[in-house]
Amino acid sequence: MKLLVTAGPTREYLDPIRYLSNRSTGRMGYAVAAAASARGHEVVLISGPVALPRPAGVSVVDVVSARDMLAAVSEHLPASDVLVMCAAVADWRPSEVSERKLKKRMMSPVLELVANPDILGEVLPYKGERLFIGFAAETDDVLEEARGKLVRKGLDMIVANDVTRPGAGFEVETNIVTLLTAERTDPLPLMSKADVATRIVIWAEDHLAEAR
Ligand code: PMT
Repeated sequence: MKLLVTAGPTREYLDPIRYLSNRSTGRMGYAVAAAASARGHEVVLISGPVALPRPAGVSVVDVVSARDMLAAVSEHLPASDVLVMCAAVADWRPSEVSERKLKKRMMSPVLELVANPDILGEVLPYKGERLFIGFAAETDDVLEEARGKLVRKGLDMIVANDVTRPGAGFEVETNIVTLLTAERTDPLPLMSKADVATRIVIWAEDHLAEAR
């Protein structure tokens, strides 16, 4: 299989010094890329700014903002069988970006934002026979929220993370997830991100034929 995996946060700059972002370290997405490569698949990893070593045998495309990530996903999707959107994409960006550092005295205490593109929404028309797998990091009504995203975003599977649970979600080496499809709800116990990643890759191996 050819997998296209996104990982890490995006950064949405306000000026050369300041940006909006989130706590994603890229660990979960890098683990998916490494697990797929270890199982003999071809992997392109589109990575937001992270501080992780590159997984062996994986082709990495570095991006910064959500719009960069959309451009990279759009470029590499045609050659892919499976898209795994693990990145924590910033939904909003500052409406204006200054090329020079903004002085405190020149700044308003209210930041005007504009919506970033929804990457999955933008590429859904080109899904064809590909598998699309998303992630949902939630704090409330985790399964309901994730199920809503599964349907709204046209996904084949969504990996629901309850990020309030110790050992799950951002920054840690482990995760506690539920694999959700239209037909099944498979809760997994606390596992390393590497083991969660292998489960996701095996799920894709088992289901790609069905998408065709
Ligand atoms: O990087 P780590 O520290 O290891 O943390 C891992 C993780 C918590 C970031 C990861 O496991 C995870 O849950 N990633 C998804 C984060 C999230 O909250 O996504 P979301 O609910 O905002 O978006 C749902 C889906 O739509 C995701 O697949 C996302 O990549 C995608 N999306 C979101 C926004 C946007 N503008 N475009 C998108 O395509």
